[in-house]
Amino acid sequence: MEKMTMKSDIIFHRNTWNWGRSTIIIAHSGCAVVTVSIEDETPRVAWISGLSVHRLFRNNGYGTELLKAAIAEAERMGASEVELAAELNTFPERWYRRLGLEERRSDEKLVILGNEIMKLK
Ligand SMILES: CC(C)(COP(=O)(O)OP(=O)(O)OC[C@H]1O[C@@H](n2cnc3c(N)ncnc32)[C@H](O)[C@@H]1OP(=O)(O)O)[C@@H](O)C(=O)NCCC(=O)NCCS
Repeated sequence: MEKMTMKSDIIFHRNTWNWGRSTIIIAHSGCAVVTVSIEDETPRVAWISGLSVHRLFRNNGYGTELLKAAIAEAERMGASEVELAAELNTFPERWYRRLGLEERRSDEKLVILGNEIMKLK
């Protein structure tokens, strides 16, 4: 399939909630998105979710770029660790591990991966 690319731009949509704070990061005109959340009860750990690159724009490095932006945003928000969930034995699980995330816990469907931010830089 022909690769499609989109000019680089990045939007940080930051908000506070009754449980904590979150940032939605939107890049490449909406082709790549991710959310970083920190609950007030666990301020050292940022939860990364919803990382998605539109299928026509994958394999351009956008996913790696967004994951790095999410980690940097987590640090800016005061976290020292990040965590996320992936389905067991899937491409995203292997992809996250390749980028330095390590298993923290798992059940029969999901694996929680994470690491200290300083080890992911
Ligand atoms: C996971 C995801 C975010 C990766 O985004 P991306 O922009 O394609 O990622 P990158 O371009 O940074 O990295 C692509 C790398 O993965 C590899 N890759 C891509 N698809 C693959 C596949 N199906 N199987 C194995 N490797 C694959 C590429 O070869 C490339 O490796 P390289 O850097 O050595 O060339 C994207 O595939 C996606 O949005 N998937 C659907 C949503 C999803 O599963 N999100 C994760 C939620 S847990």
